[in-house]
Amino acid sequence: MISSIKLSNFRNFKSKNFEFSDKITTIVGPNASGKTNILEALYLLSTGKSFKARTEVEMIQYGSELASVEGSHFAKATRDDRSLLKVIITNKINGWPGKRVLLNNVPKRLVDFAGNFKTVLFGPWDMDLVTDSPSLRRKFLDTVLSQTDREYRRSILSYEKGIRQRNKLLWRIREDPSLHSGREGLLLFWNQLLIKSGNYITDQREKFIVFANTTNEHQFQSVHAGAINTNYQLKYDQSTISEGRLEQYSKEEVMAATTLVGPHRDDMQFKINNSKFKIERNLAAFGSRGEQRMGVLWLKLAELDYIELQSKNEGPETSSGRPTLLLDDIFSELDHEHRDVVMELAKRQQTVITTADEHFLNKGKFGGKIEL
Ligand SMILES: Nc1ncnc2c1ncn2[C@@H]1O[C@H](COP(=O)(O)OP(=O)(O)OP(=O)(O)O)[C@@H](O)[C@H]1O
Ligand SMILES: [Mg+2]
Repeated sequence: MISSIKLSNFRNFKSKNFEFSDKITTIVGPNASGKTNILEALYLLSTGKSFKARTEVEMIQYGSELASVEGSHFAKATRDDRSLLKVIITNKINGWPGKRVLLNNVPKRLVDFAGNFKTVLFGPWDMDLVTDSPSLRRKFLDTVLSQTDREYRRSILSYEKGIRQRNKLLWRIREDPSLHSGREGLLLFWNQLLIKSGNYITDQREKFIVFANTTNEHQFQSVHAGAINTNYQLKYDQSTISEGRLEQYSKEEVMAATTLVGPHRDDMQFKINNSKFKIERNLAAFGSRGEQRMGVLWLKLAELDYIELQSKNEGPETSSGRPTLLLDDIFSELDHEHRDVVMELAKRQQTVITTADEHFLNKGKFGGKIEL
Protein backbone atom coordinates (compact mmCIF):
# COMPACT_ATOMS: atom_id res chain seq x y z
CA MET A 1 0.00 0.00 0.00
CA ILE A 2 1.02 3.55 -0.61
CA SER A 3 1.62 5.86 2.34
CA SER A 4 2.59 9.13 0.68
CA ILE A 5 3.42 10.67 -2.68
CA LYS A 6 5.33 13.71 -3.83
CA LEU A 7 4.42 15.42 -7.10
CA SER A 8 6.75 17.83 -8.87
CA ASN A 9 5.63 19.69 -11.98
CA PHE A 10 3.04 17.01 -12.45
CA ARG A 11 -0.11 18.31 -14.20
CA ASN A 12 -1.55 21.19 -12.13
CA PHE A 13 0.71 20.50 -9.12
CA LYS A 14 3.96 22.46 -8.92
CA SER A 15 5.22 20.78 -5.80
CA LYS A 16 2.93 18.91 -3.48
CA ASN A 17 2.91 16.05 -0.96
CA PHE A 18 -0.08 13.89 -0.15
CA GLU A 19 -0.56 11.23 2.52
CA PHE A 20 -2.84 8.23 2.39
CA SER A 21 -4.54 6.24 5.07
CA ASP A 22 -4.20 2.46 4.87
CA LYS A 23 -8.00 2.37 4.86
CA ILE A 24 -10.11 4.83 2.88
CA THR A 25 -8.77 8.23 1.80
CA THR A 26 -11.19 10.64 0.16
CA ILE A 27 -10.03 13.36 -2.20
CA VAL A 28 -12.56 16.15 -2.23
CA GLY A 29 -12.47 19.30 -4.32
CA PRO A 30 -14.28 21.23 -7.02
CA ASN A 31 -14.06 20.40 -10.71
CA ALA A 32 -10.59 20.89 -12.21
CA SER A 33 -8.86 20.98 -8.83
CA GLY A 34 -6.65 17.99 -9.61
CA LYS A 35 -8.48 14.99 -8.11
CA THR A 36 -8.12 12.76 -11.15
CA ASN A 37 -4.52 13.92 -11.56
CA ILE A 38 -3.67 12.49 -8.12
CA LEU A 39 -5.16 9.14 -9.10
CA GLU A 40 -3.24 9.30 -12.36
CA ALA A 41 -0.05 9.79 -10.36
CA LEU A 42 -0.85 6.78 -8.15
CA TYR A 43 -1.63 4.66 -11.19
CA LEU A 44 1.64 5.79 -12.76
CA LEU A 45 3.57 4.51 -9.75
CA SER A 46 1.68 1.25 -10.02
CA THR A 47 1.92 0.51 -13.73
CA GLY A 48 4.47 2.96 -15.08
CA LYS A 49 1.75 4.26 -17.39
CA SER A 50 -0.96 6.90 -17.46
CA PHE A 51 -4.60 5.91 -17.79
CA LYS A 52 -5.53 9.09 -19.62
CA ALA A 53 -2.56 10.73 -21.33
CA ARG A 54 -2.23 9.95 -25.02
CA THR A 55 1.41 10.99 -24.90
CA GLU A 56 3.30 10.93 -21.66
CA VAL A 57 4.63 14.48 -21.95
CA GLU A 58 1.05 15.64 -21.37
CA MET A 59 1.66 14.90 -17.70
CA ILE A 60 4.44 17.49 -17.47
CA GLN A 61 3.23 20.82 -16.14
CA TYR A 62 2.76 23.41 -18.86
CA GLY A 63 6.03 25.29 -19.33
CA SER A 64 8.16 22.74 -17.46
CA GLU A 65 10.53 20.18 -18.86
CA LEU A 66 10.46 17.50 -16.24
CA ALA A 67 7.74 15.97 -14.10
CA SER A 68 8.25 13.50 -11.32
CA VAL A 69 6.12 11.39 -9.04
CA GLU A 70 7.61 9.73 -5.99
CA GLY A 71 5.85 7.37 -3.64
CA SER A 72 6.52 5.52 -0.44
CA HIS A 73 5.19 2.00 -0.64
CA PHE A 74 4.84 -0.91 1.77
CA ALA A 75 4.38 -4.39 0.44
CA LYS A 76 3.47 -5.79 3.86
CA ALA A 77 0.95 -4.56 6.36
CA THR A 78 3.68 -4.66 9.01
CA ARG A 79 5.26 -1.59 7.36
CA ASP A 80 8.78 -2.86 7.84
CA ASP A 81 9.66 -2.96 4.17
CA ARG A 82 9.34 0.51 2.75
CA SER A 83 10.30 0.94 -0.86
CA LEU A 84 10.58 4.08 -2.89
CA LEU A 85 8.88 4.22 -6.28
CA LYS A 86 9.72 7.00 -8.69
CA VAL A 87 8.69 7.93 -12.22
CA ILE A 88 10.37 10.78 -14.09
CA ILE A 89 8.98 12.13 -17.35
CA THR A 90 10.94 14.54 -19.50
CA ASN A 91 10.46 16.34 -22.74
CA LYS A 92 12.96 14.73 -25.04
CA ILE A 93 15.87 17.04 -24.52
CA ASN A 94 19.52 16.18 -25.09
CA GLY A 95 18.55 12.71 -26.19
CA TRP A 96 17.27 11.81 -22.73
CA PRO A 97 14.59 9.15 -22.85
CA GLY A 98 11.08 10.40 -22.19
CA LYS A 99 10.49 8.29 -19.11
CA ARG A 100 12.50 6.70 -16.32
CA VAL A 101 11.22 4.41 -13.63
CA LEU A 102 13.19 3.80 -10.45
CA LEU A 103 12.81 1.45 -7.54
CA ASN A 104 14.72 2.58 -4.44
CA ASN A 105 16.58 5.03 -6.67
CA VAL A 106 17.78 2.27 -8.99
CA PRO A 107 16.62 2.59 -12.63
CA LYS A 108 14.50 -0.37 -13.70
CA ARG A 109 12.99 -1.68 -16.87
CA LEU A 110 9.26 -1.16 -17.05
CA VAL A 111 8.52 -4.91 -16.81
CA ASP A 112 10.38 -4.99 -13.50
CA PHE A 113 8.88 -1.78 -12.15
CA ALA A 114 5.20 -2.35 -12.90
CA GLY A 115 3.23 -4.36 -10.36
CA ASN A 116 5.35 -3.65 -7.29
CA PHE A 117 2.56 -1.44 -6.05
CA LYS A 118 -0.68 -3.09 -7.16
CA THR A 119 -3.83 -1.13 -7.91
CA VAL A 120 -7.30 -1.57 -9.32
CA LEU A 121 -8.63 1.51 -11.07
CA PHE A 122 -12.33 2.13 -11.45
CA GLY A 123 -13.88 5.15 -13.13
CA PRO A 124 -16.98 6.21 -15.06
CA TRP A 125 -15.39 5.00 -18.30
CA ASP A 126 -15.59 1.41 -16.97
CA MET A 127 -19.36 1.55 -16.80
CA ASP A 128 -19.70 0.62 -20.46
CA LEU A 129 -17.29 -2.29 -20.34
CA VAL A 130 -20.07 -4.82 -20.93
CA THR A 131 -21.39 -3.17 -24.10
CA ASP A 132 -18.26 -1.47 -25.44
CA SER A 133 -15.93 -2.85 -28.08
CA PRO A 134 -13.93 -6.06 -27.54
CA SER A 135 -10.66 -4.11 -27.43
CA LEU A 136 -11.69 -2.58 -24.08
CA ARG A 137 -12.37 -6.00 -22.60
CA ARG A 138 -9.00 -7.25 -23.84
CA LYS A 139 -7.40 -4.17 -22.30
CA PHE A 140 -9.16 -4.99 -19.04
CA LEU A 141 -7.74 -8.53 -19.06
CA ASP A 142 -4.27 -7.20 -19.86
CA THR A 143 -4.42 -4.71 -17.01
CA VAL A 144 -5.29 -7.40 -14.48
CA LEU A 145 -2.82 -9.96 -15.69
CA SER A 146 0.06 -7.56 -16.33
CA GLN A 147 0.00 -6.59 -12.69
CA THR A 148 0.24 -10.09 -11.36
CA ASP A 149 2.49 -11.76 -13.87
CA ARG A 150 5.82 -10.57 -15.20
CA GLU A 151 5.79 -13.30 -17.84
CA TYR A 152 2.44 -11.98 -19.08
CA ARG A 153 3.90 -8.48 -19.43
CA ARG A 154 6.77 -9.90 -21.47
CA SER A 155 4.44 -12.02 -23.58
CA ILE A 156 2.25 -9.03 -24.42
CA LEU A 157 5.27 -6.99 -25.50
CA SER A 158 6.65 -9.76 -27.66
CA TYR A 159 3.23 -10.64 -29.08
CA GLU A 160 2.46 -7.04 -30.09
CA LYS A 161 5.85 -6.67 -31.71
CA GLY A 162 5.40 -10.00 -33.48
CA ILE A 163 2.01 -8.99 -34.88
CA ARG A 164 3.42 -5.73 -36.27
CA GLN A 165 6.33 -7.50 -37.93
CA ARG A 166 4.27 -10.35 -39.27
CA ASN A 167 1.65 -7.98 -40.72
CA LYS A 168 4.42 -6.03 -42.47
CA LEU A 169 5.70 -9.27 -43.92
CA LEU A 170 2.23 -10.33 -45.06
CA TRP A 171 1.94 -6.99 -46.78
CA ARG A 172 5.27 -7.53 -48.58
CA ILE A 173 4.22 -11.00 -49.66
CA ARG A 174 1.00 -9.61 -51.08
CA GLU A 175 2.80 -6.84 -52.95
CA ASP A 176 5.65 -8.95 -54.30
CA PRO A 177 4.53 -12.12 -56.13
CA SER A 178 8.08 -13.50 -56.17
CA LEU A 179 7.92 -13.89 -52.37
CA HIS A 180 4.68 -15.78 -52.60
CA SER A 181 5.95 -19.29 -53.16
CA GLY A 182 8.37 -19.19 -50.26
CA ARG A 183 6.02 -17.47 -47.88
CA GLU A 184 5.79 -20.29 -45.31
CA GLY A 185 9.54 -20.12 -44.75
CA LEU A 186 9.44 -16.36 -44.36
CA LEU A 187 6.59 -16.45 -41.90
CA LEU A 188 7.88 -19.37 -39.86
CA PHE A 189 9.88 -17.33 -37.35
CA TRP A 190 7.03 -14.98 -36.55
CA ASN A 191 4.50 -17.82 -36.47
CA GLN A 192 6.50 -19.60 -33.80
CA LEU A 193 7.02 -16.47 -31.76
CA LEU A 194 3.32 -15.59 -31.89
CA ILE A 195 2.20 -19.12 -31.05
CA LYS A 196 4.46 -19.20 -28.00
CA SER A 197 3.55 -15.79 -26.56
CA GLY A 198 -0.05 -16.01 -27.80
CA ASN A 199 -0.69 -19.30 -26.04
CA TYR A 200 0.69 -17.94 -22.81
CA ILE A 201 -1.64 -14.94 -23.05
CA THR A 202 -4.63 -17.17 -23.82
CA ASP A 203 -3.90 -19.52 -20.92
CA GLN A 204 -3.65 -16.70 -18.40
CA ARG A 205 -6.80 -15.00 -19.66
CA GLU A 206 -8.61 -18.29 -19.36
CA LYS A 207 -7.31 -18.72 -15.83
CA PHE A 208 -8.68 -15.33 -14.77
CA ILE A 209 -12.07 -15.99 -16.38
CA VAL A 210 -12.39 -19.39 -14.71
CA PHE A 211 -11.48 -17.74 -11.40
CA ALA A 212 -14.14 -15.06 -11.86
CA ASN A 213 -16.78 -17.66 -12.70
CA THR A 214 -16.02 -20.09 -9.91
CA THR A 215 -14.94 -18.14 -6.86
CA ASN A 216 -16.44 -14.74 -7.40
CA GLU A 217 -20.11 -15.49 -6.97
CA HIS A 218 -19.91 -16.29 -3.31
CA GLN A 219 -17.74 -13.23 -2.64
CA PHE A 220 -20.08 -10.98 -4.54
CA GLN A 221 -23.03 -12.10 -2.46
CA SER A 222 -21.19 -10.99 0.65
CA VAL A 223 -20.68 -7.54 -0.85
CA HIS A 224 -24.27 -6.88 -1.80
CA ALA A 225 -25.77 -8.81 1.11
CA GLY A 226 -28.19 -10.75 -1.01
CA ALA A 227 -29.72 -7.65 -2.59
CA ILE A 228 -29.20 -8.93 -6.10
CA ASN A 229 -30.77 -12.10 -7.33
CA THR A 230 -28.89 -12.44 -10.55
CA ASN A 231 -25.82 -14.36 -11.24
CA TYR A 232 -23.04 -13.21 -13.55
CA GLN A 233 -20.70 -15.31 -15.64
CA LEU A 234 -18.05 -14.64 -18.25
CA LYS A 235 -17.68 -16.58 -21.45
CA TYR A 236 -14.30 -16.47 -23.11
CA ASP A 237 -14.47 -16.07 -26.89
CA GLN A 238 -11.02 -17.30 -27.54
CA SER A 239 -9.22 -16.84 -30.83
CA THR A 240 -6.66 -19.62 -30.54
CA ILE A 241 -3.38 -19.30 -32.36
CA SER A 242 -1.80 -22.55 -33.59
CA GLU A 243 0.02 -23.87 -36.66
CA GLY A 244 -3.21 -25.41 -37.87
CA ARG A 245 -5.24 -22.24 -37.50
CA LEU A 246 -2.56 -20.10 -39.18
CA GLU A 247 -2.45 -22.63 -42.00
CA GLN A 248 -6.22 -22.54 -42.32
CA TYR A 249 -6.26 -18.76 -42.77
CA SER A 250 -3.01 -18.39 -44.70
CA LYS A 251 -4.60 -17.27 -47.99
CA GLU A 252 -6.93 -14.77 -46.36
CA GLU A 253 -4.10 -13.43 -44.23
CA VAL A 254 -2.00 -12.56 -47.27
CA MET A 255 -4.99 -10.98 -48.97
CA ALA A 256 -5.82 -8.90 -45.90
CA ALA A 257 -2.14 -8.35 -45.00
CA THR A 258 -3.22 -8.91 -41.40
CA THR A 259 -2.88 -11.65 -38.84
CA LEU A 260 -6.40 -12.96 -38.47
CA VAL A 261 -6.15 -15.36 -35.53
CA GLY A 262 -4.75 -15.00 -32.03
CA PRO A 263 -5.49 -13.32 -28.70
CA HIS A 264 -5.55 -9.84 -30.30
CA ARG A 265 -8.93 -11.04 -31.61
CA ASP A 266 -10.20 -12.40 -28.28
CA ASP A 267 -13.34 -11.22 -26.60
CA MET A 268 -15.34 -12.13 -23.52
CA GLN A 269 -19.09 -11.96 -23.09
CA PHE A 270 -20.94 -11.28 -19.90
CA LYS A 271 -23.76 -13.69 -19.18
CA ILE A 272 -26.54 -13.19 -16.73
CA ASN A 273 -28.69 -15.84 -15.15
CA ASN A 274 -32.21 -14.67 -14.69
CA SER A 275 -33.39 -16.44 -11.56
CA LYS A 276 -37.07 -15.92 -12.30
CA PHE A 277 -37.03 -17.48 -15.73
CA LYS A 278 -34.06 -19.77 -14.97
CA ILE A 279 -32.44 -18.82 -18.19
CA GLU A 280 -28.98 -17.54 -19.20
CA ARG A 281 -28.72 -14.54 -21.48
CA ASN A 282 -26.15 -12.21 -22.93
CA LEU A 283 -25.86 -9.24 -20.57
CA ALA A 284 -24.94 -6.76 -23.32
CA ALA A 285 -28.04 -7.60 -25.34
CA PHE A 286 -30.61 -8.40 -22.64
CA GLY A 287 -29.45 -6.77 -19.42
CA SER A 288 -30.81 -3.48 -18.11
CA ARG A 289 -28.36 -0.58 -17.74
CA GLY A 290 -28.34 -1.22 -14.00
CA GLU A 291 -27.63 -4.92 -14.45
CA GLN A 292 -24.81 -4.12 -16.84
CA ARG A 293 -23.27 -1.75 -14.30
CA MET A 294 -23.65 -4.34 -11.56
CA GLY A 295 -21.86 -6.75 -13.91
CA VAL A 296 -18.95 -4.33 -14.00
CA LEU A 297 -18.88 -4.17 -10.17
CA TRP A 298 -18.89 -7.96 -10.11
CA LEU A 299 -15.90 -7.96 -12.46
CA LYS A 300 -14.03 -5.37 -10.38
CA LEU A 301 -14.45 -7.55 -7.31
CA ALA A 302 -13.01 -10.47 -9.26
CA GLU A 303 -10.08 -8.25 -10.25
CA LEU A 304 -9.34 -7.31 -6.63
CA ASP A 305 -9.61 -10.90 -5.44
CA TYR A 306 -7.57 -12.33 -8.28
CA ILE A 307 -4.70 -9.90 -7.76
CA GLU A 308 -4.75 -10.67 -4.05
CA LEU A 309 -4.66 -14.41 -4.68
CA GLN A 310 -1.82 -14.14 -7.16
CA SER A 311 0.22 -11.98 -4.77
CA LYS A 312 -0.19 -14.65 -2.10
CA ASN A 313 1.02 -17.25 -4.56
CA GLU A 314 4.18 -15.23 -5.10
CA GLY A 315 5.12 -16.44 -1.63
CA PRO A 316 4.92 -15.03 1.87
CA GLU A 317 8.12 -13.05 1.39
CA THR A 318 6.67 -10.80 -1.29
CA SER A 319 3.07 -11.11 -0.24
CA SER A 320 1.45 -7.75 -0.67
CA GLY A 321 -2.14 -8.54 0.15
CA ARG A 322 -4.91 -6.78 -1.64
CA PRO A 323 -4.29 -4.15 -4.29
CA THR A 324 -5.16 -0.53 -3.61
CA LEU A 325 -8.52 0.45 -5.07
CA LEU A 326 -8.62 3.79 -6.93
CA LEU A 327 -12.13 5.10 -7.47
CA ASP A 328 -12.45 8.13 -9.70
CA ASP A 329 -15.70 9.98 -9.27
CA ILE A 330 -17.97 7.01 -9.81
CA PHE A 331 -20.72 7.76 -7.31
CA SER A 332 -22.47 10.28 -9.52
CA GLU A 333 -22.89 7.49 -12.07
CA LEU A 334 -24.56 5.09 -9.69
CA ASP A 335 -27.84 4.73 -7.87
CA HIS A 336 -27.81 4.11 -4.13
CA GLU A 337 -27.87 0.32 -4.35
CA HIS A 338 -24.77 0.34 -6.56
CA ARG A 339 -23.15 2.94 -4.30
CA ASP A 340 -23.60 0.67 -1.30
CA VAL A 341 -21.89 -2.15 -3.17
CA VAL A 342 -18.97 0.15 -4.01
CA MET A 343 -18.67 1.35 -0.39
CA GLU A 344 -18.67 -2.26 0.75
CA LEU A 345 -15.88 -2.98 -1.73
CA ALA A 346 -13.98 0.10 -0.56
CA LYS A 347 -13.78 -1.21 3.01
CA ARG A 348 -11.87 -4.32 2.03
CA GLN A 349 -8.46 -2.79 1.23
CA GLN A 350 -6.67 0.50 0.98
CA THR A 351 -8.91 2.71 -1.16
CA VAL A 352 -8.64 6.21 -2.57
CA ILE A 353 -11.90 7.86 -3.60
CA THR A 354 -12.27 11.13 -5.47
CA THR A 355 -15.48 13.10 -5.56
CA ALA A 356 -16.60 16.62 -6.28
CA ASP A 357 -19.70 16.05 -4.22
CA GLU A 358 -19.07 15.05 -0.64
CA HIS A 359 -22.64 14.13 0.19
CA PHE A 360 -22.17 10.81 -1.61
CA LEU A 361 -19.78 9.83 1.15
CA ASN A 362 -21.64 10.79 4.29
CA LYS A 363 -22.45 7.23 5.27
CA GLY A 364 -18.96 5.83 5.48
CA LYS A 365 -16.14 6.00 7.99
CA PHE A 366 -12.96 7.27 6.47
CA GLY A 367 -9.33 7.09 7.40
CA GLY A 368 -8.13 10.24 5.72
CA LYS A 369 -9.17 13.19 3.66
CA ILE A 370 -7.40 15.35 1.12
CA GLU A 371 -9.08 18.67 0.40
CA LEU A 372 -8.12 20.53 -2.75
N1 LIG B 1 0.11 19.33 -18.07
C1 LIG B 1 -0.67 20.11 -17.32
N2 LIG B 1 -0.16 21.20 -16.71
C2 LIG B 1 -0.95 21.99 -15.95
N3 LIG B 1 -2.25 21.77 -15.72
C3 LIG B 1 -2.79 20.69 -16.30
C4 LIG B 1 -2.04 19.80 -17.11
N4 LIG B 1 -2.85 18.80 -17.55
C5 LIG B 1 -4.05 19.07 -17.03
N5 LIG B 1 -4.05 20.18 -16.28
C6 LIG B 1 -5.15 20.79 -15.53
O1 LIG B 1 -5.33 20.15 -14.29
C7 LIG B 1 -6.59 20.51 -13.79
C8 LIG B 1 -7.18 19.41 -12.93
O2 LIG B 1 -7.55 18.28 -13.70
P1 LIG B 1 -8.26 17.00 -13.07
O3 LIG B 1 -8.73 16.19 -14.19
O4 LIG B 1 -7.36 16.34 -12.09
O5 LIG B 1 -9.47 17.68 -12.28
P2 LIG B 1 -10.55 17.00 -11.34
O6 LIG B 1 -10.37 17.58 -9.97
O7 LIG B 1 -10.52 15.53 -11.46
O8 LIG B 1 -11.87 17.61 -11.96
P3 LIG B 1 -13.33 16.93 -12.24
O9 LIG B 1 -14.07 17.02 -10.94
O10 LIG B 1 -13.91 17.83 -13.27
O11 LIG B 1 -13.11 15.53 -12.71
C9 LIG B 1 -7.42 20.90 -15.00
O12 LIG B 1 -7.75 22.25 -14.93
C10 LIG B 1 -6.51 20.65 -16.16
O13 LIG B 1 -6.69 21.57 -17.21
MG1 LIG C 1 -11.82 14.14 -12.38
